[in-house]
Amino acid sequence: DKGNYRHFMEKEIREQPEVISHALANHVDFTTNRLRPSTLPFNFKDLDRIAISACGTAYLSGLVGKYWFERYARLPVDIDIASEFRYREMPISKKSAAFFISQSGETADTLASLRYCKAAGIPIGAIVNVRDSTIARESDVVLPILAGPEVGVASTKAFTCQLAVLASLAIRAGVERGFLNEEDEKRLIAELAEAPRLATDVLKLDEQINEVARDLSQVDHVLYLGRDTSYPLALEGALKLKEISYIHAEGYAAGELKHGPIALIDESMPVVVIAPHDRIFDKSVSNMQEVAARGGRIILITDEKGKNASATETAETIVLPEVPEIICPIIYALPVQMLAYYTAVHMGTDVDQPRNLAKSVTVE
Ligand code: M6R
Repeated sequence: DKGNYRHFMEKEIREQPEVISHALANHVDFTTNRLRPSTLPFNFKDLDRIAISACGTAYLSGLVGKYWFERYARLPVDIDIASEFRYREMPISKKSAAFFISQSGETADTLASLRYCKAAGIPIGAIVNVRDSTIARESDVVLPILAGPEVGVASTKAFTCQLAVLASLAIRAGVERGFLNEEDEKRLIAELAEAPRLATDVLKLDEQINEVARDLSQVDHVLYLGRDTSYPLALEGALKLKEISYIHAEGYAAGELKHGPIALIDESMPVVVIAPHDRIFDKSVSNMQEVAARGGRIILITDEKGKNASATETAETIVLPEVPEIICPIIYALPVQMLAYYTAVHMGTDVDQPRNLAKSVTVE
């Protein structure tokens, strides 16, 4: 039931503060800011790497997970799109574990990747929304994302709940591997606990984002740029926009700009830059200057500090609250989803049921 919402996608975007908090509460205890006891059949300290495989938006949450596992737990992550993973004959370390991320739990390529790892004899974890699914059944441990039913073909709340689970797992890995002490654990979990409130604040930017989307609905191409964990978000922004608005969009790591996509920039090319004011914000500023110098129209998604430090003329700046580093990808996912959603609404497309797409892709 859509309730008072125009589309399931809108409803699902707005449910995020609540469902993110459910996803987190399954892994962390907010009264103590400590991790709950592990349900995993292995200890991260015994692993030398992990493999992650998934498709589409679920793959992009895994890509964020890679940055987190490597940063907070010094644990290398092999991640690949499931359709590549299953055929690329990747050697599997005996000291590894694999995670498969799937909203539906039925995606054919993801399931085939799971079976490839299972044949190699390593422990398998399923990060799924549908608990009674094939991927869940064939796994050694199920890590439910608890997003509730997701009806819109464009994945929104499943993405942020997948991120919530992955962030919790990365903290667990950091603790078990001795790279995070008790104080770090408590601080990071306290930061995760901020996510639902900050997500609620971001939802209030709907009017401004709707105005930006009105302009976006007039263009034929959009480029999304981001660095670090905002790079997967740039890919996600482009995926979401093309999926539901049918506008051609591409996501790039901002540092790749001068290796090709800069040739596309002219006055008709809006460039969405996703850049919280982080360690490498200055690098994104350089990229924005390169875009501005060629007349590109910048739509910057940042925070107050980033706005003040950007020193580049932007067509639009969407200012988010200041967000702790670990939850940036969770919070910045919302304006990215909202931008795609409102653009599609302006275009009048079938938002919940875009052409040619299925909610669950059970054939390869
Ligand atoms: O059910 P899954 O999470 O395995 O689905 C994976 C992709 O098909 C899915 O994320 C797809 O890319 C979405 N339509 C993106 O919005």
